[in-house]
Amino acid sequence: MIYFDNASSTKPDPEVVKEMSDFALEFYAIPSSIFSHSLGQAVQDKIQEARDYIANKLGVSGNEIVFTSSGTESNNLAIKGFAYANKNKGKHIVTSKIEHISVTESVKRLEREGFEVTYVGVDKQGFINLNELKDSLRDDTILVTVQLANHEVGTIQNLKEISKLVKEKGIALHIDGAVAIPYTKLNLKETGIDLLTISPHKFYGPKGIGILYVKSGTKIEKLLDGGFNEFNLRAGHENTPAIIGAKKAFELWDDSFVTHLREIKIYLYERLLKEIPDVELNGTLDNSLPHILNVTFKYIEGESIALRLDFEGVGVTTGSACYSRNLQASHVLLAMGKSHEDSHGSIRFSLSKYNTKEEIDYTIEKLKEIVDDLRRISPLLGGK
Ligand SMILES: Cc1ncc(COP(=O)(O)O)c(C=O)c1O
Repeated sequence: MIYFDNASSTKPDPEVVKEMSDFALEFYAIPSSIFSHSLGQAVQDKIQEARDYIANKLGVSGNEIVFTSSGTESNNLAIKGFAYANKNKGKHIVTSKIEHISVTESVKRLEREGFEVTYVGVDKQGFINLNELKDSLRDDTILVTVQLANHEVGTIQNLKEISKLVKEKGIALHIDGAVAIPYTKLNLKETGIDLLTISPHKFYGPKGIGILYVKSGTKIEKLLDGGFNEFNLRAGHENTPAIIGAKKAFELWDDSFVTHLREIKIYLYERLLKEIPDVELNGTLDNSLPHILNVTFKYIEGESIALRLDFEGVGVTTGSACYSRNLQASHVLLAMGKSHEDSHGSIRFSLSKYNTKEEIDYTIEKLKEIVDDLRRISPLLGGK
């Protein structure tokens, strides 16, 4: 399989898997057993080491790093946990129209529970409308939750400006960095972010682990009842091997991946433009993640392209993978002003450090045949 669905999940680095498996076999106690035996203490030490290592990479301190089960859980904990703990200050939350489903479903639940939510629009390239954001902030706004970069089209938000607007008003800021970190650099101290979501399986780490940075002094309420794990912010014993795997993924991250990714992304885009007629970019090439390219193949359906590519051994997604079981047009593309037709014709290629130009060459050749075939029978072209 030529795998171009790395924004959904990446293949873990073999070194990550090895480290996790060694750890799971040797350090199988839980860290909360420290008061009973030395194996629990040894596990606790390893987890602390991982926490400090990751914190150090982000320029924050270890006691600001909370381990969860996923980016989805981190988003839920950040948004609902913050809202519940701070509802005495106000019940208004601001988000954007292009967020991941874990954010939109979290705020929708809050709406059902009596909170008010404003959904700020984006421009044609997927940048949050800053004037609209500014106008949306009210005296009772307690939280702004927006993504650092978009998971479908790759557009990286102007975090400096967003943060300035939000922090000027003394409002808390949650950033969903699940698909963006560490592909784009972020200085947590400079940007004044209060809560940040990270998802290690998006950068060659394991699934089953998420990270939530919680700035010291930020009040959040835990969502799971039970033990007092993770600074009493998340009950349930930690997925300790995955924490070790997440640390390894950070250790193995190299900025040269970004150079490689950008190079093959541009190569893919230029060949698409040159060799296949009526291909349109969704998003922007400037200020975009190095590994995500989203294009519309006019007059045909993305689903058909994806199925045919899969048959040829190439894995891509149409719209967001999370929605690929239903055929609704992507809410991200619609918010960017794309028509339903063009949204349905979109394909997301998301690349990894393992991908090569040769894989792209093969894909282009197959795409030329597939697009040609599908257009020949397209009702939008009169079935010609
Ligand atoms: C922008 C964004 N946020 C959150 C998530 C959820 O992360 P996870 O898959 O770790 O639950 C994803 C996953 O696709 C994402 O792309």
